[in-house]
Amino acid sequence: MMKLAPSLLSADFSCLLDEALSVAPLASRLHWDVMDGHFVPNLTFGPPVVNALRRRLALPFEIHLMIDRPAEYAPQFDVLPSDTIIFHVEALDPVDRTIAAIRRTGAAVGVSLRPGTPIERVLPFLDEVSTVLVMSVEPGFGGQAFLPGALDRIRALARARAGRGISIVVDGGIHAGNVAGVVAAGGDVIVAGSAIFAAADRLGAMRALQEAAR
Ligand code: DX5
Ligand code: ZN
Repeated sequence: MMKLAPSLLSADFSCLLDEALSVAPLASRLHWDVMDGHFVPNLTFGPPVVNALRRRLALPFEIHLMIDRPAEYAPQFDVLPSDTIIFHVEALDPVDRTIAAIRRTGAAVGVSLRPGTPIERVLPFLDEVSTVLVMSVEPGFGGQAFLPGALDRIRALARARAGRGISIVVDGGIHAGNVAGVVAAGGDVIVAGSAIFAAADRLGAMRALQEAAR
């Protein structure tokens, strides 16, 4: 069964704990989109907010850093060994420093790339990460349309990871109408924001995603 990672970017920020609990029964992990207003033209939340929620929730966290300085800020996350911190290969900090900084937190390391970045940019790091997150929209906002070019990129990464225990996470624009194609291409973890949080019946929407992927 594919893993579902609800993205709290589409939740009601005035009650993030309740919003996270509303999807927890069918979630494999919770996806937190950290944005700095520089790497992407949007601002969300950072370590103080994520850490406060980390203390109140049992599910693994997947922290998606859409920020220029991931090596500088990774140490500020109080994470568990079951969590993953994902940085962007296009960020300003040198990749080696970022990977080392994330490792020191105790979390697993993930790397992500924008839809226009050649996948060759992440291949040199496949032995050092446990997750590759393929963006299927331009990072920055929820509710955008899935970019179909992501499917070939997922397939290429699924071939390139051969033999390594790397999860492929796919993030952006996924709903019950396209999730089957994403899973068939090689996606292991499906991030969904608006498809879950905009639904009146969120657990029903999550079940619909699981069924559509079968
Ligand atoms: C976009 C974020 C995504 C976003 C996905 O920059 O990385 O995690 O929340 O939202 P949907 O599923 O609505 O495209
Ligand atoms: Zn994300």
